Amino acid sequence: MRGIANFYGTYAMYVCLCKGVTDKQIRNAINEGACSMRDLRESLDVANQCGKCGRDCKSLLNESALAGAASPMQSAQFVAA
Ligand code: FES
Repeated sequence: MRGIANFYGTYAMYVCLCKGVTDKQIRNAINEGACSMRDLRESLDVANQCGKCGRDCKSLLNESALAGAASPMQSAQFVAA
């Protein structure tokens, strides 16, 4: 992840510099149901240009999956979304 932006009063990190997408935008997309790189590509257009952000996007997906595995309620919401 590269760069820092002031995003509505909080700090966010740019993950995709080509498309100007931050970690918060990716986390929001994941919370709204994106569960694969295909979902993130379709919803945010990340990893479609140089591809350098792909690894960080996958890390955020894995982080979310691990957090969901730790919390059965979140897992249920994740599957239902
Ligand atoms: S940094 Fe995301 S496509 Fe280039």
